[in-house]
Amino acid sequence: MENNAMKTIGVLTSGGDAPGMNAAIRAVVRAGCELGMTVYGINRGYNGLMENDMVKMGLRDVSDIINRGGTILRSARSDRFKTEDGMQAALRTCRERGIDGVVVIGGDGSFRGARDLSLHGIPCVALPGTIDNDIGCCDYTIGYDTALNTIMQMVDRIRDTTESHDRCAVVEVMGRGAGYLALNAGIACGATSILIPEIEYDFDRDVIQRMVRTQRSGKVHFVIIVSEAIGGVEEMAKRIQKETGVESRATILGHVQRGGSPTVKDRLVASQMGHKAVELLSQGIGNRIVAMQNEKIYDCDISEALTMKSSVDLDLYKVAMDISI
Ligand code: F6P
Repeated sequence: MENNAMKTIGVLTSGGDAPGMNAAIRAVVRAGCELGMTVYGINRGYNGLMENDMVKMGLRDVSDIINRGGTILRSARSDRFKTEDGMQAALRTCRERGIDGVVVIGGDGSFRGARDLSLHGIPCVALPGTIDNDIGCCDYTIGYDTALNTIMQMVDRIRDTTESHDRCAVVEVMGRGAGYLALNAGIACGATSILIPEIEYDFDRDVIQRMVRTQRSGKVHFVIIVSEAIGGVEEMAKRIQKETGVESRATILGHVQRGGSPTVKDRLVASQMGHKAVELLSQGIGNRIVAMQNEKIYDCDISEALTMKSSVDLDLYKVAMDISI
């Protein structure tokens, strides 16, 4: 890589944290330093940019973080940055610090900020960092694999106790408006039913009758996975107990899904994406998202990417239904 365009860049994490964000920060700082750039670690997302809250980061400042969950820069969702006043404050900080470009790691809300800042003359490259995997132009977002593995481990534990008591566990998982986590975790955990927002469901047909059918073939304990976009797990558990006679318990997994040491996949993808972001900035290229499709890293225009819809694999849902009986 050669650096023809930028002397000083910033890196920030924004929105919900995701395991692997630290690996991405590390890659940005190291790749930037290698190119002779000054790299600022901006604290608390866009808030730090508006409030001039940042620190210079060198090679050793990102030692021992590739294995850590969360984000050492901390994260936030900022309403002020969506306003003209917020944008002007951010531009003022960039002028004062001599920041020529910014790497933004976050979800689609963070991408809008990166696009707006780019349009105001500070080239930004955005990396998809969210456990939800709900970004249109990407097959994969940093943090998704770790969250999936965490859900699987948690549900495996719930299964142990469910099995011991001949019960049904109704488990709500995160994903915001998308069912990727629920669908894939549901398959990995052998859930009898999986309820996701992308697929209309009939509770009697898709939960009660499936349970009754499997009861006839001898099944006595059950796991039902429900996406948070559907919710209502407490009521579902009560209804299942009433209509099937199987004692049922509801669990909302919650923020445990966001933490933990990132998996190999998240560390690898985050490292490649961070490196690519610096490469783009070093060529003076901004207003881009670094994404992954078919296991390859590529970049695309932020505005175009924001118009793309993410969609779950309906074939995968069919597989789940066919084999979890
Ligand atoms: O986008 C990540 C995510 O964890 C979603 O799955 C969830 O809906 C949301 O963030 C929770 O946000 P908060 O941390 O603000 O409660």
